[in-house]
Amino acid sequence: MKTVQDILQEKGHDVWSVAADATVYEALQVMAEKNVGAVLVLEHGRLVGILSERDYARKVVLQGRSSLNTPVGEIMTQQVFYVRPEQTIEECMALMTDRRIRHLPVLEGNRLAGVISIGDVVKAIVSEQRVTIQQYENYILGRGYGE
Ligand SMILES: NC(=O)c1ccc[n+]([C@@H]2O[C@H](COP(=O)([O-])OP(=O)(O)OC[C@H]3O[C@@H](n4cnc5c(N)ncnc54)[C@H](O)[C@@H]3O)[C@@H](O)[C@H]2O)c1
Repeated sequence: MKTVQDILQEKGHDVWSVAADATVYEALQVMAEKNVGAVLVLEHGRLVGILSERDYARKVVLQGRSSLNTPVGEIMTQQVFYVRPEQTIEECMALMTDRRIRHLPVLEGNRLAGVISIGDVVKAIVSEQRVTIQQYENYILGRGYGE
């Protein structure tokens, strides 16, 4: 069964982040530049929150605030769910479904080792299922030839 570590080996260990006192506008610029839907929020290297496009839509746009003078720390989600490298992709999917979240930071001890998104998890599950289907096809065809 594939693990978080397997996904990170394939996609890399990049972590796109901003400081809590950055403006929401600056965080959106990082998201656009890196083509991602969320950034981690760090303070002295410590994970203190996560800011997603959804946070922006609901806590800035809908509340009539301005991204240019709202600090990230004011609207970020402070309770960050994370995973460990040895956890399975099924565990990630369960956590994402239960908590209705789309990004999971990966922590190795206290160190940030990467980020896993729902797209990464779906891609890994589909590729695992493709291998299983191929194995069944080979088995069925192999048996057919023998008979
Ligand atoms: N084919 C692929 O390899 C693949 C993998 C993931 C996502 N996608 C596609 O991208 C689109 C959006 O994906 P999503 O909703 O999963 O989220 P997303 O756009 O936030 O994530 C896209 C990629 O960036 C990475 N990422 C996101 N935030 C990051 C951060 N702060 N630091 C470092 N890396 C970060 C994710 O792990 C993922 O690999 C979807 O259309 C999805 O299908 C494709």
